[in-house]
Amino acid sequence: MNLTHIEHLGIAVKSIEESLPYYENVLGLKCYSVEEVPDQKVKTAFFKIGQTKIELLEPTSEESTIAKFIEKRGEGIHHIAFAVDGVAAALAEVESKGVRLIDKAPRKGAEGLNIAFLHPKSTCSVLTELCEDPNKK
Ligand code: CO
Repeated sequence: MNLTHIEHLGIAVKSIEESLPYYENVLGLKCYSVEEVPDQKVKTAFFKIGQTKIELLEPTSEESTIAKFIEKRGEGIHHIAFAVDGVAAALAEVESKGVRLIDKAPRKGAEGLNIAFLHPKSTCSVLTELCEDPNKK
């Protein structure tokens, strides 16, 4: 498996609107996209630092896994996403090494990426996402 870089960090927030001033006015980043992902019952906001993005995740429903995360652990870093060449092959490889998968096959995430999550029980408690940009190359 060839991880190329940290694609993004997912950060759970109660409110994107209330979080924006810190990222924009203090850190000097510019939010370039706000996108709702109905599938995951979240609203996302993106910032870019070099090749890496920060993805703020705001729950749009009590049923959202992000709502449950915030309830249990509070706001904060939710997951790390690695860019990989070939998510499907990477999933097969890590599964063969005994890693528990949340997604057995890649699915569509924000920004049209193909994504899949690995279970934190198998990843030293860090929810881990593998993703690839199908339009890259
Ligand atoms: Co993500």
